[in-house]
Amino acid sequence: MKIGILKEIKVAENRVSMIPAGVEVLKHHGHTVFVEKDAGLNSGFSDSDYVEHGAEILNDKNDIFKKSDMILHIKEPQPSEYSLLRENQILFTYLHLAASKDLTLALTKTNAVCIAYETIQKEDGSLPLLIPMSEIAGRMAAQEGARYLEMVHGGSGVLLGGVPGVEPGVVVVIGGGIVGMNSAKIAAGLGARVYILDTNSDRLRYLSEIMPSNCITLSSTPSKIRELLRIADVVIGSVLYPGAKAPRLVTRDHLRTMKKGSVLIDVAIDQGGCFETSIPTTHENPIYTVDGIIHYSVANMPGAVPKTSTLALTSATLPYVLEIANVGWKEAALNSEAIRKGINVVSGKITYRAVSDAFGMEYTNIDSMLGS
Ligand SMILES: NC(=O)c1ccc[n+]([C@@H]2O[C@H](COP(=O)([O-])OP(=O)(O)OC[C@H]3O[C@@H](n4cnc5c(N)ncnc54)[C@H](O)[C@@H]3O)[C@@H](O)[C@H]2O)c1
Repeated sequence: MKIGILKEIKVAENRVSMIPAGVEVLKHHGHTVFVEKDAGLNSGFSDSDYVEHGAEILNDKNDIFKKSDMILHIKEPQPSEYSLLRENQILFTYLHLAASKDLTLALTKTNAVCIAYETIQKEDGSLPLLIPMSEIAGRMAAQEGARYLEMVHGGSGVLLGGVPGVEPGVVVVIGGGIVGMNSAKIAAGLGARVYILDTNSDRLRYLSEIMPSNCITLSSTPSKIRELLRIADVVIGSVLYPGAKAPRLVTRDHLRTMKKGSVLIDVAIDQGGCFETSIPTTHENPIYTVDGIIHYSVANMPGAVPKTSTLALTSATLPYVLEIANVGWKEAALNSEAIRKGINVVSGKITYRAVSDAFGMEYTNIDSMLGS
């Protein structure tokens, strides 16, 4: 198969969808790999690194789209790329369609086969291509919270860890999955008092066993969230219903009960955000303030630490890229339930229930398109 690796164009997105070592593996299996000029530069890989590992460098993005059977990206295609996708071409990337009707409609018009990293799901329910980025975004969320509490950034001026004789800051983490656990770990490591809320009692039991004693696990209810918002210095939103729009758990009314200069970090913004007042921001302009509360809602947080996140992501995606490239998307979907769950849009039809539900659009069961 001919595989195209694009240079990312989303603002301050510095990751790349395949490293040179991955190119070598794909070549070894008989595939051809095109890499857009300078695609790996910000992740620490030069064009000559790719050439040494068997890639062909192309200067023009249009040529990558024209020549490739499968396009690999990190973030969702941007509007300038919609018309470059074509019928039956495979697009394999993060899509987060439930957060964007425009993108969903644009992809249905391309008639391409759109497979989302974030909905590839193993039998045990885990999301293998979301996990590495959630680990990174979670750890960053605690760092960003600490940073924006500093008064120079408009924050309340609390040091999360406190000092001897002075109380530490309070961090409230809503959603104790991969992002939440990693946020809590870093915030607790800084010395903050951390509350981590989840609706899944097995998960809370697990967290309570492994987290340090300054991290308290709590059942997530609207009233517990309201109570904790009053004392929070940093609130991290990290809930997820796979593939679906995030539930709005903090409303504008809640903001009035919070301490001025506190910080809301909405990691779930890529699925539409779990705070009513969240709007997506970029690494260039990451924050804004509503009712005296700082909001941080960057949808591609790991893009800021590409030297770590490119390596973490591509080692997770490579086995799936290889499987799809070796046998084609249909055969790969028939062989693997995980890949089947990744398919969101095929030939103009929405094949992922949570996406069609998000927009009241028609759902088509992928099985009917696989001839199974
Ligand atoms: N902004 C970014 O750059 C970035 C990067 C990575 C992941 N994310 C996003 O972060 C979010 C979380 O990802 P994850 O990998 O941690 O997911 P996850 O599935 O591991 O965890 C989600 C958790 O939320 C819990 N939950 C559901 N409803 C809840 C509620 N009402 N109250 C409290 N908890 C609730 C679930 O039980 C689960 O434990 C996703 O939207 C993901 O796409 C964003």
